[in-house]
Amino acid sequence: MTAKEILKMGDPRLLRVAQMVEEFDTPELHNLLKDMQATMKHAQGVGLAAPQIGVNLQVVMFGTGEHNPRYPDEAPVAKTVLINPVITPLSEDTEEGWEGCLSVPGLRGKVPRWKSIHYKGYDERGVLIECEAKGFHARMVQHECDHLWGILYPMRIKDFTQFGYTQVLFPDLSDTSED
Ligand code: NI
Repeated sequence: MTAKEILKMGDPRLLRVAQMVEEFDTPELHNLLKDMQATMKHAQGVGLAAPQIGVNLQVVMFGTGEHNPRYPDEAPVAKTVLINPVITPLSEDTEEGWEGCLSVPGLRGKVPRWKSIHYKGYDERGVLIECEAKGFHARMVQHECDHLWGILYPMRIKDFTQFGYTQVLFPDLSDTSED
C-alpha cells in the first residue's frame, strides 16, 4: 500500500464522470482502497475519491476518526467506504459551510450543500450501506461524491468573497500544510 500522488485542480481527469464498480471483493478493489487509505492518511485528509488518484471509479472514503487536525471543531464521523453512491436530499434546505480539498491545496471556500441527506451505496464486499446524515457528515459525503461527477467544490461557490487561503482565513488552525 502506497500513498499516491493526488491530482490537483486543472487536471482534466478530475472532471470526468466516474464509472460504476461492477465487481466487489476483488484484489484490485481491495488494493485501490489500501492505496486510497494510505494516500488519505499521508495527507491527513478527511475524505478522498478514487478519481483524485487518477482511478476513474465510483469509490469514495471519508471519516475523521476521533480527531482530525484539519477540522478540529467538527464532530467525529465514522470512517466509511462508499461505492456506487446515490445521494437523496431529505429536504430542500441548504446551508453554507467551509470546505477544503486535497486537490485544491492551500485554499478553503464556503460552499452551499443540502443540510440533510439520505445516502446509499456499497462497501468493498458489496454489502449495502444506507445512512442518513446532516451537517458536517452530510457535507463530507456530498463533497466526496461530487468528485465522482467531475465537480470540485470551487465550482459550487456562490460568494467568492468567502474563498481564500487557509492560512489567511484560519491563522490559528494547527495544520494547514496540506490543505
Ligand atoms: Ni475533495
